[in-house]
Amino acid sequence: MASSHRHELGTFTWIHDPAAQAAAPGLLGRSVLSDLDLNRAEVDALVETALWLKGQRERNQPHPYLAGKTLGMLFEHPSTRTRNAFQAGMEQLGGHATFLGANELQLTRGETLPDTAQILSRYVDGIAVRFGEHRNLITFMGGATVPVLNGLTERFHPIEALGDLLTLHDRFGGLKGLKLAYLGDGNNVCHSLMLSGAAAGMHVVVASPEGYQPDPSLVERAQEIAAQAGGSVTLTGDPHEAVRNADAVYTDVHESMGQPNNPAKRAALAPYKVTTGLMAEAKPTGVFMHCLPMRREQEVEAAVADGPQSIIFEQAANRLHMHKAMLLLTLGPSR
Ligand code: CP
Ligand code: NVA
Repeated sequence: MASSHRHELGTFTWIHDPAAQAAAPGLLGRSVLSDLDLNRAEVDALVETALWLKGQRERNQPHPYLAGKTLGMLFEHPSTRTRNAFQAGMEQLGGHATFLGANELQLTRGETLPDTAQILSRYVDGIAVRFGEHRNLITFMGGATVPVLNGLTERFHPIEALGDLLTLHDRFGGLKGLKLAYLGDGNNVCHSLMLSGAAAGMHVVVASPEGYQPDPSLVERAQEIAAQAGGSVTLTGDPHEAVRNADAVYTDVHESMGQPNNPAKRAALAPYKVTTGLMAEAKPTGVFMHCLPMRREQEVEAAVADGPQSIIFEQAANRLHMHKAMLLLTLGPSR
C-alpha cells in the first residue's frame, strides 16, 4: 500500500494510501445509514483503511487512534458479529464502547427515538444501531448530532457488505470485474451487496423468486452506480444462470430477524438453496459466502458451508477490520 499520507498521532503515525487520504476528510463526522451514503472513493478508502488496520493487528502493532472516544451501541435485535466487531474494534482502537439494549432504555417507557438520540449524542462520540425497521433509524436521526452507523435494518446492512468487499479483495486481490451471485431473499444484505458491489465495479447477479426480489428502486439505483463504475447489476429467476462463472456465490437466511414463520416463503426460496451442484457451476476458484448466522440445510447445504470453497469465517473475521475502518474514518482520529 502506498504511504503518501502521514497523520501524526502522538507516537503513532497514520499512513494512508492516496484513496483513503482523499476520502477520509469527507467521512469525518458523517453517518452511514445505507450504502447510498458512500461514494466509490469512500468505499475504496474504507477497504484500504481496513486492510491497513488488519496489517497492524496482525503485526501486533498498537493502534489507539480513537483514544478517549466512546461508541454507544443501541440494538433492538440480537447480534453476534456486528455487536462484538464494534465493541472489540473500538477497544483495539484505544476507545470504549457501551452496549445499550433497546429494552434497557427509557424507550420502553415511551421516551422517543429523537429524544434518546439527543441524549446519547451528548455522552458519546458515535452511535452504532440495529433497528428492525429502517424508518426507526430515520426517526432516530432526527435527534442525533454524532455519527450514526447502521448495523442492520430490514432494508440495509452496509457494514456487512463492506466487510464482504474486504474479504473479496483479500481473496482475489481486487474487486473490479468480479462476479458475485446472490441467491435467495432480496432484502437487507442483498440490497447492500448490490449497492456496494456496484460502487466497486463488480458484476452482481441476484437470483430470487417472484415476491422476494430486491426493491426495484434500489435495483435501479444500483444499476446506475454500476454503469458509472464499469460493473453491472442484473436479476434472474434462475439460480443456474446466476452462478455460472461466478467468483463468489452468496446467500443469507430465508427468514430474517423479526419476520414471522412463513412456510410459503420457505417453499418459494427452497430452489435457491446453495448446493454442491450449483457451486460446481461457479468458477473453479469460486468461493461460497454467507453473512451468518446460517441455517445449514435450509439456505445452504452443510457440505458447501463447511466445504473447501467456503470462506464464511474469513468473512466474519474481516468484519472486525471493516468496523474499525468505519469507526476511524467517521469518528476520529483523536487529537
Ligand atoms: N452478519 C451479521 O450481521 O451477524 P450478527 O447478526 O451476528 O451481527
Ligand atoms: N437478513 C438477515 C441478516 C442477518 C445478519 C436478517 O435480517 O436477519
